[in-house]
Amino acid sequence: MNKTVNQYGSWAVVTGASDGIGKAFAQAIAANGMNVFLVARTKGQLDELSVELALRYKVKTAVIVADLSIMEGVDAVLDHTKESDVGLYVGAAGFGTSGDFIDTSIESELNMVDLNCKSIVKHAQVYAQRFKKRGSGGIILLSSLVGFQGTPRASNYAATKAFVQTLAEGLHVELKPHKIDVLAVAPGPVKSGFADRANMIMANTDSPQIVAQHALKRLGKCFTTRPGFLGKLLGYSLSMTPRWGRVQILTRVMGDMTKHNVHSGTRQHEAG
Ligand SMILES: NC(=O)c1ccc[n+]([C@@H]2O[C@H](COP(=O)([O-])OP(=O)(O)OC[C@H]3O[C@@H](n4cnc5c(N)ncnc54)[C@H](OP(=O)(O)O)[C@@H]3O)[C@@H](O)[C@H]2O)c1
Repeated sequence: MNKTVNQYGSWAVVTGASDGIGKAFAQAIAANGMNVFLVARTKGQLDELSVELALRYKVKTAVIVADLSIMEGVDAVLDHTKESDVGLYVGAAGFGTSGDFIDTSIESELNMVDLNCKSIVKHAQVYAQRFKKRGSGGIILLSSLVGFQGTPRASNYAATKAFVQTLAEGLHVELKPHKIDVLAVAPGPVKSGFADRANMIMANTDSPQIVAQHALKRLGKCFTTRPGFLGKLLGYSLSMTPRWGRVQILTRVMGDMTKHNVHSGTRQHEAG
């Protein structure tokens, strides 16, 4: 590690902190002695985590209840955190959809673009400006294994993750002169609330804790990391295959993960 996580500043902002990967990031960051702003829509889960972190790690925590698929929610996070010494931003709020794109709910697909892409762009730019002013910072963005090629039956979700991956790669270089470390985290299947919301069945998964701990160790060392055994195994074996071949493989993988809804139609989560 170039520096320990708590050297990024006194406070971190973690979106998606009520569950899964974001929650694991919040726990790992607090365990390193850093104060954490916890962001998501579900107040009860954030409050519970807030108490747990404050008691266990003796850090300060603050809950921000916000829907990040709308700009008011995105701006509320920026507003609530502007007076604090935030040095680390983890954008983990996100969701996926699955099924035949032609039949999916367009509201859900567009809501996913707003959350997975638009909120990240705004947060990344404003925190980068603040980090530049304070002299350093760290930005961690959640990409995915599926973001490296087209992924049938999760086409739009994979496209949102390709967006995040590409954004992070560019920012990694662009923000380096300002002493801002940017990391794309590209896990394979992870055990969290994600699969249920996306209506996917994942036979094998890595744990959210592995993802978060690994990513925090890699921040400042590389521009993309593939945490977890599965993430590494799948990521590296896919990287040996040309892009058209990867699309064929992902067609099979996603076909397996969504075969339960092929005949019953798609069960899209109505987001927001
Ligand atoms: N799990 C996987 O297999 C996997 C693999 C690769 C990448 N990822 C990425 O990792 C990130 C985290 O996913 P996860 O696995 O941790 O999923 P998760 O367990 O479903 O957690 C998603 C988090 O995002 C929050 N969220 C969802 N919609 C939101 C909204 N409109 N506004 C604010 N917060 C919202 C949820 O909280 P509320 O519902 O309380 O708002 C929750 O805290 C996502 O970007 C996902 O694409 C996941």
